[in-house]
Amino acid sequence: MIKPKAELVNFNLLGDDRGSLISLENSRNIGFDIKRMYYIYSTKKNISRGFHAHKKLKQLLIAVSGSVDIYCEYQNKKQTYSLNSPNIGLVLEGPVWHIMQNFSENAVLVVLADDFYDENDYIREYESFYMTQIQTKE
Ligand code: TYD
Repeated sequence: MIKPKAELVNFNLLGDDRGSLISLENSRNIGFDIKRMYYIYSTKKNISRGFHAHKKLKQLLIAVSGSVDIYCEYQNKKQTYSLNSPNIGLVLEGPVWHIMQNFSENAVLVVLADDFYDENDYIREYESFYMTQIQTKE
């Protein structure tokens, strides 16, 4: 189990009169090395996803199109982050309970992760997550 973290980051815009460009590089503007990328799109109306936390996984979530809200909970903090621009990212590390909701029709949520998919890294029961919060309390 690693220390939980949920933090918004702003990316440097490399735009010019042709349009915008954002570059993300291992360890430079992302706090970890990327091993996996996945994306969530064509999400149906009123669908919420997630409802889990991770033990060790570090992830960076970016709405490269449209918008989505990410409800996060850890160590008595409960906060919803709105991802509504490709130059904003949400870093999620370790045991943060999160729910992805209010997907706009055109939403494409890209997620960069520091490890391969591993079901053993998931905490899918809220009660088990709650127990980890007691263990990782500072
Ligand atoms: P799931 O964990 O339900 O997605 P979310 O929590 O974001 O709503 O994932 C859906 C399915 O896809 C599930 O069977 C696991 C699988 N999956 C992979 O095989 N690889 C991956 O990188 C991810 C994120 C999911």
